[in-house]
Amino acid sequence: MKFEKLNAIVSGGASGLGLATCERVVKAGGHAAMLDVNEQQGREAAKKLGANALFIKTDVSSETEVNAAVEQAKNAFGGLQLVVNCAGILGAGRTLGREGPMASDFFAKVIQVNLIGSFNLTKAAASFMQHNTPNAEGERGVIVNTASVAAFEGQIGQAAYSASKGGIVGMTLPIAREFSRFGIRVMTIAPGIFWTPMMAGMPEEVQKSLGAQVPFPSRLGKPEEYALLVQQICENVMLNGTTVRLDGAIRMQPK
Ligand SMILES: NC(=O)c1ccc[n+]([C@@H]2O[C@H](COP(=O)([O-])OP(=O)(O)OC[C@H]3O[C@@H](n4cnc5c(N)ncnc54)[C@H](O)[C@@H]3O)[C@@H](O)[C@H]2O)c1
Repeated sequence: MKFEKLNAIVSGGASGLGLATCERVVKAGGHAAMLDVNEQQGREAAKKLGANALFIKTDVSSETEVNAAVEQAKNAFGGLQLVVNCAGILGAGRTLGREGPMASDFFAKVIQVNLIGSFNLTKAAASFMQHNTPNAEGERGVIVNTASVAAFEGQIGQAAYSASKGGIVGMTLPIAREFSRFGIRVMTIAPGIFWTPMMAGMPEEVQKSLGAQVPFPSRLGKPEEYALLVQQICENVMLNGTTVRLDGAIRMQPK
């Protein structure tokens, strides 16, 4: 699918990887609906991107809010071809922490935002995309999820986060198989360590040491490199039903 002039919905679009994706979509002449809980940042980012960007305050963990946001974006743009699930929270914590075992509610919240949030947007968007007019290749839409290398080598303190991201990896193939009859592709990107506001909260020496652990290139990833892969996924019709690591060959250690 051509990346130029696409109508896209990006969750977590107010910041980091999602914001870089919205920037790339708009730069290519497309429209980007930025779904995010961070209203101030979302409004400012949409304003900066101009008339082709639209901020819609949405909590992806709410099925009702997501359904309404997809409807609003689709009506505003007159169509929808690309969805990028970027909204996510870290939810770090040991299963047996200093204060005692992790509360199951905490674990459930991480699953609700990262995994069920991605599912909510995927199904709401696909229910519209299935009616798109197919292109010459038979494509009606592309959905890109965001997992993490923590889906494969989660560190100590990442039980909830890794479970949520492992769930995203797991649902990629069955949904891609199901949507194949509509010509809607489903892909997942598993980023290594990227320099985004999520990371900026960490002390500088931790950031440096994380960058040094990346074999090549020996640095943190740039959000633009994530957005580039979203474009490449759109453009290569054979990419479907799988998870692509974008990580400079890093393999996370236990801690
Ligand atoms: N930065 C990294 O190194 C890295 C590595 C692996 C995976 N990821 C994943 O990439 C995605 C984007 O991360 P980022 O680094 O850009 O983080 P970020 O914190 O910069 O952006 C995440 C955005 O999601 C939004 N968000 C959080 N909860 C939400 C909710 N319930 N509904 C709607 N929006 C919500 C936040 O407000 C924020 O704007 C996340 O899913 C993250 O887990 C990031």
